[in-house]
Amino acid sequence: MTALHDKFGRPITYLRLAVTDRCNLRCFYCMPAQGIEYVPQRQLLTYEEMLRLVRILAGAGVRKVRITGGEPFLRRDLMPFLSRLVATPGIEAVRITTNGVRTEPFLDELYALGIRSVNLSLDTLDRDRFAQITRRDELPAVLSTLEGLLRRGFEVKINSVVMAGRNTDDLIPLAELTRELPIGVRFIEEMPFNGGGREVQLEWDYRRILEHLQTRFPQMEKLPDPPHSTSLNYRIAGHKGTIGLIPAYSRTFCGSCNRLRVTPLGKVRTCLYDEGVFNIRDVMRAGATDQQVLDTIREAIAMRAPNGFVAEQRRLQRSSSESMAEIGG
Ligand code: 5AD
Ligand code: SF4
Repeated sequence: MTALHDKFGRPITYLRLAVTDRCNLRCFYCMPAQGIEYVPQRQLLTYEEMLRLVRILAGAGVRKVRITGGEPFLRRDLMPFLSRLVATPGIEAVRITTNGVRTEPFLDELYALGIRSVNLSLDTLDRDRFAQITRRDELPAVLSTLEGLLRRGFEVKINSVVMAGRNTDDLIPLAELTRELPIGVRFIEEMPFNGGGREVQLEWDYRRILEHLQTRFPQMEKLPDPPHSTSLNYRIAGHKGTIGLIPAYSRTFCGSCNRLRVTPLGKVRTCLYDEGVFNIRDVMRAGATDQQVLDTIREAIAMRAPNGFVAEQRRLQRSSSESMAEIGG
């Protein structure tokens, strides 16, 4: 079967699969404090549907799957699903992004499944600021998950969304973590996906974040970035861990994007900034064969915008106030 490529020659080898829209936090850059309505269970892709989709995509060259949400560990029976997912022929790596609030009890099982890389969303090390940003007082649980991950030898990345006036005092302490811990701390530009249609004026782009870090750590060395990387990677001389900058708003990485996203409701997105090009759940529930499912995805990929700015333009022609919990990051 021929691999999936868009018109610009970018191969699609990486699926980001959001397994739920629910979350036990209310990060203000992702969701409004109140008034979010979760979708009824039957509208979510079932695990069977997700496994079928992954099997079909693996047959067309997808090699890596990241499980996101919402908060993935809120979906019932996640572990049996993951154990089948890692066993899918062709899938070489399964990784998870979690907020870490209820993750710790699952760490041994994750490790036993061969899932060795976990991204933790953590925007501050200060308990009060954590409670302000996420609207829940859960920092201790997250830190305990972080410790549990490191103790077991997981590869850990911390995702910190940088927000003017909220957590810019945290950049240095978060970067400081890399001194003794072998983790990647990644600073992400805030994107306008907060579920409330709130506009984002990007005051802290990746250059400003870098300059700020350099005032405290003048000895930041640029590291080579892996292919398809969305982060610009650095190491502070002598530190065990690394620092990453993710220009999620500036979108400098689109040229090498190898990702396909599927939302909890089965919307297929060929770009973070597109509106969701069609619904694969509906295609599957209408009785499509594997070949038809794949052809539909192939067509969507063929229409993929060259970059996130063009995708956003197309999307704005509709209108949108989406939350990251509906997209999966
Ligand atoms: N802008 C940037 N990053 C975001 N995330 C969630 N919402 C936003 C946003 N509006 C991040 C989370 C998570 C990752 C998948 O996306 O911190 O770690
Ligand atoms: Fe939950 Fe992640 Fe959204 Fe925060 S950013 S509310 S942890 S899905």
